[in-house]
Amino acid sequence: SGKLWGGRFVGAVDPIMEKFNASIAYDRHLWEVDVQGSKAYSRGLEKAGLLTKAEMDQILHGLDKVAEEWAQGTFKLNPNDEDIHTANERRLKELIGETAGKLHTGRSRNDQVVTDLRLWMRQNCSALSALLRELIRTMVDRAEAERDILFPGYTHLQRAQPIRWSHWILSHAVALTRDSERLLEVQKRINVLPLGSGAIAGNPLGVDRELLRAELNFGAVTLNSMDATSERDFVAEFLFWASLCMTHLSRMAEDLILYGTKEFNFVQLSDAYSTGSSLMPQKKNPDSLELIRSKAGRVFGREDKEAVFEVSDTMSAVLQVATGVISTLQVRRENMAQALSPDMLATDLAYYLVRKGMPFRQAHEASGKAVFMAETKGVALNQLSLQELQNISPLFSGDVSQVWDYSHSVEQYTALGGTARSSVDWQIAQVRALLRAQQA
Ligand SMILES: *[C@@H]1O[C@H](CO)[C@@H](O)[C@H](O)[C@H]1NC(C)=O
Ligand SMILES: *[C@@H]1O[C@H](CO)[C@@H](O)[C@H](O)[C@H]1NC(C)=O
Repeated sequence: SGKLWGGRFVGAVDPIMEKFNASIAYDRHLWEVDVQGSKAYSRGLEKAGLLTKAEMDQILHGLDKVAEEWAQGTFKLNPNDEDIHTANERRLKELIGETAGKLHTGRSRNDQVVTDLRLWMRQNCSALSALLRELIRTMVDRAEAERDILFPGYTHLQRAQPIRWSHWILSHAVALTRDSERLLEVQKRINVLPLGSGAIAGNPLGVDRELLRAELNFGAVTLNSMDATSERDFVAEFLFWASLCMTHLSRMAEDLILYGTKEFNFVQLSDAYSTGSSLMPQKKNPDSLELIRSKAGRVFGREDKEAVFEVSDTMSAVLQVATGVISTLQVRRENMAQALSPDMLATDLAYYLVRKGMPFRQAHEASGKAVFMAETKGVALNQLSLQELQNISPLFSGDVSQVWDYSHSVEQYTALGGTARSSVDWQIAQVRALLRAQQA
């Protein structure tokens, strides 16, 4: 039948079962690492005396030919090729004859599947890491260039306090640096060699696993052969990483969708990342951001190998689109400034009284009274006269006028992590340092 385990089976497998079970549709992504793993293993077999030098050379040469066919798109799959490992070995046998049958000596498909997956994920994670850092770098560059733009910070979608626009950007960049750090951690655990574990019991033929590790450039060898072939916790970790990273990107996308509406009008998405409506000529839809949000849903809750390929593909695209969106976004500085309103300085009014010696709880209440008075009179908070404020608390004096300055307001938040310029500069330096450390 051409199946790797065909010897003891007599009955044919139900064709529906065969199709149900086949993984070739997605594990063909592994063709290159499968060849890489097999080449290393044949070197291990030669060193253990299980292949002659001539046989090894024949296998190595045949495997290069298989890889060449994949690379050129001329590799032909057979209906019986249930997975990439079967397909490659079947082709090797066609190319070099019976010697191909020696390649699998002491190796199990479990061994091979998990080795290939780790090799593939190691490579893809490095590429994803670079894309993620590129996104963070783009965000930090923007934050640095636009440090002096102020706009409303929201909680519960209500205007809360004036903040720097760069403070908002950094709030998302900082979350992504943790994702970047987490991915490096996951990668460390992916980068462990399982090959040489057999099916579950280990390798009885003296294959040197340290040689295999060096050949395939893994950081370490797995400690236990049963754990090595049966465990996929590194896949679960990667998928969790992707889910969390997508949650962060989805949050950012939602904010930008809102900020781009006519109602907010703080930012304008570049044409490269939006589309028009087929019916309503005035519309410009933030498709890129909406797609990032919907793809988040597709990443959540996926499991196992099949998911790895799809999720890796999604992550690659999403990270690049997000970088494009951020780097081309147009900021409407005047609209942001106009959206700041005196009521957002009510907290500052309370801090003013605190600085004059009033306990915060009382100051909060006094400021609340001022907000109520302004609302009742139908005027902005900063239009209350000094006399009116002094009726609320005698601690108010002429210098209260300083409170009504948004720049002055944000500059108060100098404690590390706040929205004052010095603190935003500190955040920029911190994130840049993290990126440098992660790159090393
Ligand atoms: C299904 O695929 C797995 C792994 O590729 C293999 O071990 C198993 O024997 C296959 N079963 C059938 C019935 O084809
Ligand atoms: C990771 O793998 C996916 C699926 O094959 C692919 O689409 C994507 O381009 C890869 N990512 C990178 C950054 O190479």
